[in-house]
Amino acid sequence: MRATEIKPNVYWVGAIDWSIRDFHGYSTPEGSTYNAYLIVDEKIALFDTVKRPFKADLIKHISQVTDPARIDYIVVNHVELDHSGALPEMVELVKPKKIICSANGKKALLAHFHREDWPYEVVETGSTVSLGSKTVRFIETRMLHWPDSMMSYLEQDRLLISQDGFGQHWATSERFDDEVDRSELMYQSAKYYANILLPYSPLVQKLLADVRSSGIEIDMIAPDHGLIWRSDPGRIIDAWDRWSRQETVEKAIVVYDTMWQSTEMMARAVADGVQEGGVSVKVMNLGACHRSDVITDLLDARAVVLGSSTINNNMLPRMADLLCYMKGLRPAPKIAAAFGSYGWGGEAVKLINAAMEEMNFEIVDQGLRVNYVPTADDLAQCAELGRRIARAVRGEDGG
Ligand code: FEO
Repeated sequence: MRATEIKPNVYWVGAIDWSIRDFHGYSTPEGSTYNAYLIVDEKIALFDTVKRPFKADLIKHISQVTDPARIDYIVVNHVELDHSGALPEMVELVKPKKIICSANGKKALLAHFHREDWPYEVVETGSTVSLGSKTVRFIETRMLHWPDSMMSYLEQDRLLISQDGFGQHWATSERFDDEVDRSELMYQSAKYYANILLPYSPLVQKLLADVRSSGIEIDMIAPDHGLIWRSDPGRIIDAWDRWSRQETVEKAIVVYDTMWQSTEMMARAVADGVQEGGVSVKVMNLGACHRSDVITDLLDARAVVLGSSTINNNMLPRMADLLCYMKGLRPAPKIAAAFGSYGWGGEAVKLINAAMEEMNFEIVDQGLRVNYVPTADDLAQCAELGRRIARAVRGEDGG
């Protein structure tokens, strides 16, 4: 890869991680990128670095534009190690006059690298730094998604360098939104939002309102992961608005794990009932679908139906994993129900219901349990549960 000029004298100088497949529990089958940006003006500023093993790529790309030793400022928009892992070595190499970060950014940098001697300059929302012909304005975005997070806005270029905001985990040789498949881009963006930003949706709403009221015009959004939004930045802003309002569509997901396919038979019968009720349905076997893909589909689903066999008086471990992960992401309440096959205890359905109640889901049925292998009558009841879910999704009755 080479450095790419994204605006006059503004360069992408990051790194492509073609191999990463797991990002602390989030599956990344298409890899990721760690974007860093270099602005060459009277002062030269580097915005974020990269994950430590990719330091050589960062230095190579900077060197295609200028001598790294000429960098005056390093701006740390976000301290998480995928963006600051290479920072200590870059500080050694560059000896920057300033390391610009938020107050929480300074705290987090000290807690990570224990370097009191670095030349920190703390900025807050509204602070500006002149690079010569270009002015950078900072916007703190606390808890989006770390306390230190902030964005940098280049006034003359109307360019928002948005750290994790508006990003996607997707490794490509292309740098811009108009160079890749749009559906895939929006899918990867939705997956990123659902798995990283979902718990902070009220703060996203506030950020979008603040940006709207500030009157700043955005011509391009350059995130720290994935593609740069140059053709239509409004598209991803609108999507974030929708996702952060947790808007749903007439869709249900039926997610299950199974021991001897009895719970799977139930899942398919429930899904048949949902479809008969005129609602879109997706069946997701946890043996085949990663938790982070389930969460992506949960984002706009109005209903979730969870199934697990009972094992050792509990649910199957992959269902417990999903519920633990889902609870942490604090989705808005969904229409919900549980089902599962059992041999003698049958606790899984009750435990799934309890977990869904903790998330304030609207449980429309106390759940279906089937002893060992479902009969035709049992499957008919599953289909009826599906139809009941569909009616609730369509708002036709209380389920
Ligand atoms: Fe891409 Fe929150 O780090």
